Amino acid sequence: MCGIVGYIGSRDAYPILIKGLKRLEYRGYDSAGVALINNDDLNVYKTKGKVADLESFCEAKNISGHVGIAHTRWATHGEPSSVNAHPHYSESKNLAIIHNGIIENYAEIKNNLIAKGVKFRSDTDTEVLVQLIEYVQVKKNLDTLTAVQVALHQVIGAYAIALLDKREPNQIIAARKQSPLVVGIGENEFFLGSDASPIIEFTDKVVYLEDGSIAVMRLGEELKVVNILNRELNPLVHTIDMNLGQIEKCGYPHFMLKEIFEQPECLKNCMRGRINADVDKVTLSAVIDYKERLLAAKRIIIVACGTSWHAGLIGKQLIETFCRIPVDVEYASEFRYRNPVVTKDDLVIAMSQSGETADTLAAIELAKRSGALIYGICNAVGSSIPRATDTGSYIHVGPEIGVASTKAFTGQVIVLVMLSLALAKEKGTIDDQTYNDVVKELSLIPDKMKEVLEQNDKIADLSRIFTYAHNVIYLGRGYSYPVALEGALKLKEISYIHAEGYPAAEMKHGPIALVDSDMPVVVIATHNAMYEKVLSNIQEIKARKGRVIALVTKGDETISRIADEVIELPKTLECLEPLLATIPLQLLAYHIAVCKDKNVDQPRNLAKSVTVE
Ligand code: F6R
Repeated sequence: MCGIVGYIGSRDAYPILIKGLKRLEYRGYDSAGVALINNDDLNVYKTKGKVADLESFCEAKNISGHVGIAHTRWATHGEPSSVNAHPHYSESKNLAIIHNGIIENYAEIKNNLIAKGVKFRSDTDTEVLVQLIEYVQVKKNLDTLTAVQVALHQVIGAYAIALLDKREPNQIIAARKQSPLVVGIGENEFFLGSDASPIIEFTDKVVYLEDGSIAVMRLGEELKVVNILNRELNPLVHTIDMNLGQIEKCGYPHFMLKEIFEQPECLKNCMRGRINADVDKVTLSAVIDYKERLLAAKRIIIVACGTSWHAGLIGKQLIETFCRIPVDVEYASEFRYRNPVVTKDDLVIAMSQSGETADTLAAIELAKRSGALIYGICNAVGSSIPRATDTGSYIHVGPEIGVASTKAFTGQVIVLVMLSLALAKEKGTIDDQTYNDVVKELSLIPDKMKEVLEQNDKIADLSRIFTYAHNVIYLGRGYSYPVALEGALKLKEISYIHAEGYPAAEMKHGPIALVDSDMPVVVIATHNAMYEKVLSNIQEIKARKGRVIALVTKGDETISRIADEVIELPKTLECLEPLLATIPLQLLAYHIAVCKDKNVDQPRNLAKSVTVE
């Protein structure tokens, strides 16, 4: 969601902060701002719009200073405006704060402060924090760190904050609770980020702040981390393995297109060291380390949101097919408030690209209380979900910057295939032939994906025909049904065209009423066990003059004759078809959005990592 950047050291802070904001802009982006300490001044500049708007706004301003914090905002309380943008000053303008998260009891604190005479400038929950810190600081004559600790005692909610105090100019204080923060450690300098992307250009040494910790970054001193009770904590310094190329566009017009094209390489990275096709073997360290508890699981519950939830639906079919364990797939946001039945015999798989989704984290906490084993499938290394789980497998597809998830989805599916194979082998629920066939075929998937990507130009041409559409239906059955859901989600989130995914056979129970000659229907109709059934569904649509775009297995002539447009996919095993069928749907959504001149990487109202409910 919102992005946080900070710098303290001997360099000019402003260029580092602006660059950092640009790297974080994908997280949230309705306004941006920066605060800089320059000698005795604390200058705050902020504006509605993008980081580029902030840069223009700052052109004639004094941007000097070696200490600063900056923010991109995705509005939660208060409309997007320059007043509501961060940083927020305290009333005296001695303090400036940036914040990611939600202060749940902000109204109560605000009313108390107003009653004591404090004047507010904005509608945000964030301003309440900085005013509260100043209030306790003045009232009790406290230094900044102590004032932060005292104020945070009164706060209910989630936060990652960074604070400057112009009377302590060589210091940044940052604190986190349920919202991520990363400190980068350089030579006599510190960097701060809501993830590592603004930091990696400068240092590979980072500390992922633990929940409830407060980092004190002072010039000329070591990093100090304390908790709210001022107990000193031992920060663990990690060396991160991320390069700049991974977070830059590398010649592609959009991150989304780059990330779609990266998938063959990403999947190789995901399988590296885990799939050995020579000896037909899948090795997942988590399955080795937690073998007994995994094998004892009587039921699996997958919790996730959005695209990760779609991957979970594919996981259900894989696990039930190969491991013969019942699997429920739950929206984390529903699960956490439903008082669900979870026992210590359950295995809960939490799936998340960002590793920071608030609902998924809350679902994990709930499941933990019942003693279930929690397995994370995440992309962002060191993020909150992998740290909250008992064990798990990273998908290792590299940073995903485009807001619409692409490579993380295929990475999650690959991990679920590997997990279901490894578990099934241990349980003895899969025969050798099937196991070996899937392992062999997995190693061929990256090349088959490349073949699909070669049809990019054709799909770009095709997309021009469909920009007129106001509604699109996506159909699939079996393993392809979640792919249909995912294709529809991709289209709606970046092109703002209404789209729905359905199991193909459900059409006749209602949605077929929508079909007319204006209605494009995308059907995943590959040559598998459901082929004949899907063929009938296509005929039903054609009989109502719907326009069918069919994804077929290479060489299929029957559907090619009936459908208006076809996109061919290489033959693969049915359980791996989602990995190939997803690609044209991602490209279709991408090109339609480009044709409609939409902001592909930063669609309206959306944020990359949903750290609030
Ligand atoms: C869609 C998309 C979202 C995310 C969802 C969960 O393209 O990106 O639906 O999948 O917000 O996010 P993670 O996977 O980070 O938990």
